[in-house]
Amino acid sequence: MKMNIPHPIPYQGSKRQLAATILRYLPAQMDALIEPFAGSGALSIAAASKKCCKRVILNDINPALMTLWQFLVHEPERLANFYERLWMAQSGRERTFYDLVRKRFNQTHHPGYFLYLLARCVKASVRYNAQGEFNQSPDNRRKGRQPEKMRDDILQVSHLLRHNITLLNQDYRLVVKTATPDDVVYFDPPYQGVYASSDPRYLTTIDYDIFVDELSRLNERQIPFIVSYDGRTGQKKFGQPLPLSLNLMHIELDAGWSSQATLLGRVERTYESLYLSPALMAKIDLPPPTLFSMRQLVLFEDMV
Ligand SMILES: C[S@@+](CC[C@H](N)C(=O)[O-])C[C@H]1O[C@@H](n2cnc3c(N)ncnc32)[C@H](O)[C@@H]1O
Repeated sequence: MKMNIPHPIPYQGSKRQLAATILRYLPAQMDALIEPFAGSGALSIAAASKKCCKRVILNDINPALMTLWQFLVHEPERLANFYERLWMAQSGRERTFYDLVRKRFNQTHHPGYFLYLLARCVKASVRYNAQGEFNQSPDNRRKGRQPEKMRDDILQVSHLLRHNITLLNQDYRLVVKTATPDDVVYFDPPYQGVYASSDPRYLTTIDYDIFVDELSRLNERQIPFIVSYDGRTGQKKFGQPLPLSLNLMHIELDAGWSSQATLLGRVERTYESLYLSPALMAKIDLPPPTLFSMRQLVLFEDMV
């Protein structure tokens, strides 16, 4: 299901396409929606557009990303102007201009440069070298989003969030300490396993056992939460499913056709797992099953 929500930060792994579907599993009202792995914050933007949360807390371990969020929310005109100037200045020399901006970003860490790089780089994917410098290459087919469209999205998101947002730059474990049973925590950690080691799209990966322990503690505290974690394309699974001991409801969301399988001549759909905590389940009526593919976790485990 598509929903027209602004999405100013291009970001690989963004939940933009699934946000409207995931929203269906949130309670009609909540105090804070907390995203400890914020990225582009697609779900929070969707939830704020629907006015189903009083405030949002966005956290990410990537400092450049959170500085960009600060700038975007609190100085939207300046960010939009900055992006527009860069976008116009690249005309006719896109390749060399990208390298220049990347160099400037690594020297200054200015968030305006970061937005331009995300708009122009391969798969909007954040990569760093061993020195911590951004080293992703440009996608030479992309000029980056048109400045007018970017401006609209920036202004809309700032307008939606500026009075009710907290922005943090910490490890996810610190952020959930303040959650209450009136909040909902949405976890969308970096993809696990093969992707993380051979193609490090994200700054870091997280430890499975530590993550499971954190979720278990949230269950003890009756904190409602949702997790996006693993999935499959056709029968090929990616990532390790969360354990039965957490007592989570497991749902598979249809995330569309797999472009990689299509390239290889196979027609396969990708399904992303969504796990709902017991405290969350107590607050929602599950949407009708015709609109999604749903299995209890035990069935999924039988397939492994
Ligand atoms: C899959 S992305 C989140 C995408 C997001 N849901 C969106 O809509 O754009 C995962 C994010 O987790 C962040 N991250 C990785 N390790 C983290 C940690 N230990 N604590 C907080 N954030 C972390 C990464 O920087 C990355 O932005």
